[in-house]
Amino acid sequence: MSGTTDAPPVRRLADWDDGRLTELARTHGTPLYVIDLARIRENCARLRSAFPDADVRYAAKANAAGAVLETVKDAGLGVECASAGEVVRARRAGFPGDRLHYTAVNPPARDLDRVLAIRAEATGLTITAGAVDTLDRLAERGYDGRLCVRVNPGVGAGHHEKVRTGADATFGVPYDRAESVVREATSRFDVVGIHAHAGSGIDADQLDRHRELVARMGALATSLSDIDLEYVDVGGGFGVPYRETEPPLDLSAVAAATRRELADALDDPKGAPNLAVEPGRYVVADAGVLLTEVNTVKPTPGSTVVGVDAGMTDLLRPAMYDAYHPIRPLNGDGEDVPTTVAGPICESSDVFCTDRPLPRVERDDRLAVGIVGAYGYEMASHYNTRPRPAEVAVDGDTSRVIRERETIADVLATEPDTDRP
Ligand SMILES: Cc1ncc(COP(=O)(O)O)c(C=O)c1O
Repeated sequence: MSGTTDAPPVRRLADWDDGRLTELARTHGTPLYVIDLARIRENCARLRSAFPDADVRYAAKANAAGAVLETVKDAGLGVECASAGEVVRARRAGFPGDRLHYTAVNPPARDLDRVLAIRAEATGLTITAGAVDTLDRLAERGYDGRLCVRVNPGVGAGHHEKVRTGADATFGVPYDRAESVVREATSRFDVVGIHAHAGSGIDADQLDRHRELVARMGALATSLSDIDLEYVDVGGGFGVPYRETEPPLDLSAVAAATRRELADALDDPKGAPNLAVEPGRYVVADAGVLLTEVNTVKPTPGSTVVGVDAGMTDLLRPAMYDAYHPIRPLNGDGEDVPTTVAGPICESSDVFCTDRPLPRVERDDRLAVGIVGAYGYEMASHYNTRPRPAEVAVDGDTSRVIRERETIADVLATEPDTDRP
């Protein structure tokens, strides 16, 4: 049943129904993202049950489609937005101000202005800032509302060096300055929380670092116990198993360790601030697949190169992070051959896998790429003047387009002289 916690902790690529995916690809064309809203509800329910006393905020950057945000909102989560655009989306999805968090990383002036304008009617919105300069810019704009200070915990974790934000000086005020920054901020703002994020895609082997971050944030909260902090936000980053053989994260164990670590670090756990977490990937990753069609099959001495109509412009993670995504042909049962699946972009990084044993395929066959609900469509680009793909939401027996397929005209539309042939 959707939205219950007894649903399996991960939906593997093999669990998707080939007949249904084939039908969706036929109806809507490829490349096509498919996102299952019922699965998102299940993931939200598991998070809420693992962290019953915590404030769980969905990091919208993982997948900010309106239908996804509405689903998360209805499941009772808050939302963490990384830009003014995401705040606009969250408001459109109906998030009330008191469930809305904007995390400003080197925020452009137009983002600050826009968020402050939205905040005028979104009472309770919280701004998280990680530089004194950002605090000054907020104060210059007359902001004196709810503020959370982002701290650099000096502890990074995650599936790739490019996502280990926790020890990267860009993010948050240095840990040893955090206490004084928070204290000074209380004279200008309603300081409600402290925040840190270790990185994205933390697996079971890296939990020690997550715990270390929690302990450091607990210690900081203790040193600030005279200030009435509402919450300590220890970020997101809960990993999902991309490889078929990888076990899912034991979320309850992670939650228990997080709570224990925080309680141990707090002087007086009873009067202590609440725990907050902000997972993105965990909510949506396994709720999505990308469907793509084979257009070229080229046997080579080493590997069969299978050319498909999706590329790094549709799914950037393999090119950007060397990320592994499961791939399988729909209705395919041929013998396995070493296969390189490559997109239509003239870049050697435009490959979804290299020399991977996959069932032999032919031109016009369709492949499904798994665990793409997070940082999939969201990172799509127009590079090579490629229109972005469509995204379809399924929910039980129903399906609907939630992001239309773009056309070349859409890509050109921002150029003033698009009337030219
Ligand atoms: C501040 C912050 N919070 C939460 C997240 C969500 O991380 P994840 O999707 O790995 O849970 C991110 C991701 O980069 C982030 O930067």
